[in-house]
Amino acid sequence: MALIAPSLLSANFLKLEDDCNMLNASQADWFHLDVMDGRFVPNISFGLPIIEQVRKATTKVCDVHLMILEPEKYAEAFKNAGADILTVHLEACPHLHRNIQQIKSLGMKAGVALNPHTSISLLSEVIQDIDLVCLMSVNPGFGGQKFIPQTIDKIKQLRSLIDSKNLNLHIEIDGGVTLENAPEIIAAGADVLVAGNTVFKSANPISTIAQLKSL
Ligand code: DX5
Ligand code: ZN
Repeated sequence: MALIAPSLLSANFLKLEDDCNMLNASQADWFHLDVMDGRFVPNISFGLPIIEQVRKATTKVCDVHLMILEPEKYAEAFKNAGADILTVHLEACPHLHRNIQQIKSLGMKAGVALNPHTSISLLSEVIQDIDLVCLMSVNPGFGGQKFIPQTIDKIKQLRSLIDSKNLNLHIEIDGGVTLENAPEIIAAGADVLVAGNTVFKSANPISTIAQLKSL
């Protein structure tokens, strides 16, 4: 049974409290919070003040996905805002090892995200230090895009790397996850599903989350 992490990028920002309460009442495991800087990705989303408010509205895990350059400048601020998991992009971090150590020393779980073109092999020297790998199954920056099918192979490669080293970390899939493709994603070895549009654009988000959870 996978963990379900609805992405608040697709929530109604005018009624964010209602959407948080809906997720609290649902079987969602984590709140996935997408931070974009308009530099690493061609879009700007939301930042610290929103996360601070969301933190007050839930006791569930706040899974913060930073799509920003120089994340080391803000790691402490995201910890103070309430992040439980802080994920940085490998492509944005020339000193990734240092970023990971910083996140862990601040008391958060450390995640590393890979863009669709980035090879799993680049994780080999840090995989033992992290808690989560986020495989982007779309190009980051926008919700509601189509799942890139090659991601399935990457999930399988990552699952065998993790198993061969006897490690215990999450494989999170982010982008274009639907009720239709989720079974194949889970079968390939993922254990955390991010879902933005699939949850928030559905007629009944609580039951959609329950359906994802039951796969
Ligand atoms: C994309 C974000 C995703 C996005 C997913 O850059 O990282 O978390 O919100 O949205 P859907 O599930 O709609 O593809
Ligand atoms: Zn995300």
